[in-house]
Amino acid sequence: MKYIEHKGIRVPCLGLGTYPMQGRQCYDVVRMALDIGYRHIDTAESYHNEEPIGEALENSKIPRNEIFLTTKCGFLDASRENVKKEIESSLVKLRTDYVDLLLYHWHHKETPMNETLDALKEIQSKGLTRNIGVGNFTIPLLKEAKEVHNIDIFTNQFESHPLLRQIPLENYCKKNGILVTAHSPIGRGRAVNNEVLQHIGKKHKKSSVQVAIRWQLEKELRMLVPKSTRREGLEENFDVFDFSLDNDDLKQINEMPNNQRGSRPDFEPHWDPLDE
Ligand SMILES: NC(=O)c1ccc[n+]([C@@H]2O[C@H](COP(=O)([O-])OP(=O)(O)OC[C@H]3O[C@@H](n4cnc5c(N)ncnc54)[C@H](OP(=O)(O)O)[C@@H]3O)[C@@H](O)[C@H]2O)c1
Repeated sequence: MKYIEHKGIRVPCLGLGTYPMQGRQCYDVVRMALDIGYRHIDTAESYHNEEPIGEALENSKIPRNEIFLTTKCGFLDASRENVKKEIESSLVKLRTDYVDLLLYHWHHKETPMNETLDALKEIQSKGLTRNIGVGNFTIPLLKEAKEVHNIDIFTNQFESHPLLRQIPLENYCKKNGILVTAHSPIGRGRAVNNEVLQHIGKKHKKSSVQVAIRWQLEKELRMLVPKSTRREGLEENFDVFDFSLDNDDLKQINEMPNNQRGSRPDFEPHWDPLDE
């Protein structure tokens, strides 16, 4: 596992995404992932799977301080009251006193940003989360959060993979010390049959998906949360720490189309046109 130190916290860079798994399947996959060596789990109140994740973490007997646990709030309702209610309920379901990271899932234009971010700060000051961050924030939203509302953002979790590279957003985060968390790093499956990634993979005796994951791990200030429902997938996605991509590989990836956005809810923000 690769760890990075960010704001005094040691974070396992490779996590497990858990959407849209639920119930028994989610329990089994989290147990398998922990068994393989994953120590970073990504969930959200809106995924309706915090209960099986809490049960899997408890039954694994892995000490709580060895796990980096993220949940998200405010998906449907980002009001102060609702966000505070959600974290209380998330902690009960996750069977823990705190999460390592609480993210504001997507910004809601109808809720003033400072209302939600103040609620997150309050939750953090009570010790219910160690860190706070945001999800799917564009550069203008990050600027508002930092410059107007004075929020210390641990991470921005946004879609990133070889077919949606989001370079301006990534550069803004890097310049401002914001850790990037790549969601949908396999492009929701688009990386699997991609010929360029397959070609690069052949050279390293790795799969196209392993190349997509390694591409993230080559970057500084970066973590990622791929999801697989299968043991072979979980193992393959974890088997990425014994090779590196070279400049020629990176050049080939940079020349691919850069417009394969998978997450497009009707409340999405105006993305940077350079990434469309
Ligand atoms: N913050 C947000 O708004 C947001 C939005 C979307 C996602 N996320 C987070 O990001 C996580 C990952 O994103 P995602 O689930 O959208 O997509 P993803 O991880 O990019 O791709 C998942 C797809 O890839 C397949 N796959 C995984 N490993 C594979 C392998 N080694 N070989 C072949 N196929 C493989 C999976 O199928 P199998 O299951 O069959 O392996 C599944 O179809 C989510 O689970 C969630 O935690 C956050």
